[in-house]
Amino acid sequence: MILLRDAMRLRESQEANIIVMLIEKKESEKAWILRVDDPSGEHRIIAPKDGVSGDSPEQLLPDMVIGARVVKSGEALIARELILPDLAAERLEKTAHEAFICMISDIHVGSKHFREDLFENFLDWINREDDPEARNVKLLIIAGDVVDGAGVYPNQHKDLEIFSVEEQFKKLAGLLSEIPERVKIIIGPGNHDPVQRALPQPPLPEKYRAILEKSGRSLIFVGNPAWIRISGRIFLIYHGQGLDDVIQQAPGFSHSSLERDLGEVLKLVLRCRHLCPIYGETTPIIPTPEDMLVIDRIPHVFHTGHVHVAYAGSYRGVRIINSGTWQEQTSYQRSVGLEPTVGAMALISLGDLSIKLRRFV
Ligand SMILES: [Fe+2]
Repeated sequence: MILLRDAMRLRESQEANIIVMLIEKKESEKAWILRVDDPSGEHRIIAPKDGVSGDSPEQLLPDMVIGARVVKSGEALIARELILPDLAAERLEKTAHEAFICMISDIHVGSKHFREDLFENFLDWINREDDPEARNVKLLIIAGDVVDGAGVYPNQHKDLEIFSVEEQFKKLAGLLSEIPERVKIIIGPGNHDPVQRALPQPPLPEKYRAILEKSGRSLIFVGNPAWIRISGRIFLIYHGQGLDDVIQQAPGFSHSSLERDLGEVLKLVLRCRHLCPIYGETTPIIPTPEDMLVIDRIPHVFHTGHVHVAYAGSYRGVRIINSGTWQEQTSYQRSVGLEPTVGAMALISLGDLSIKLRRFV
């Protein structure tokens, strides 16, 4: 592995491996022109459309870190192979755990479109002692957008049933008090919740935590993203704000095709090992000295929300979940053709990490 500066000093036809970040890519008739940099400088790599093995240049997004096998040709570097960071395939060890974990997100309490009736169906189910799955739920994870908030977007008051954020949290506390006492509840924030919008987000502020504590339940407040170890399994819980930029910029994806493509979107995020691979688009990110959004470990479970479309699958042993929503289609979602999965929950077995998606309709 050599630096870009040293790659430029190679002899004609000499090959080398480099790791670079993509600044931008341009398409010509026969090749992709990739403007890239590393700590030693900036240069262009030409990726011929018919001669690159590994990952396709077409799916590369700005700010992605990629590995490249290049050959020197005149003043240019020609790509022979492109490689995304990706995950190593992992074999999952099964355990004897019989417990289940419930995963939900995007409740949006306070919205006119919050389906309280469906949420009550969920509460009825989780209280059923005669249901072997419900009876064994030990943990409920909520991956953000617990309330609809206020002032999140222009004219939001037209979509609100409860205008005060405090009242929204009081309503949520009432709902959480109906969860059985045996279930611990982990709560992370999303873009609708009253915390700083830029990623990484801290846990909910004390003021709102105190309201939820009145539910009398055992609550654990985490930031977004959150890495949590549960009985030896690593859970990466991420509301999912950065998915919007990936959906908008990666070829072939759109909000109206998520029922078909969400698995591929989430897989791409894992393969580039970053929760918000594109910097400076619609998702605000705090430029911290250490990038907290890098997927620097391989989780067993990757739980997301935000796009309101439910999905369960796996990639190289990592269980991938999007837990849908409890909010009916909003006018914005209608305008982009997004069909939300309303009343959805993912149930995961701690023993073999098998996932069931359930709808409470
Ligand atoms: Fe949401």
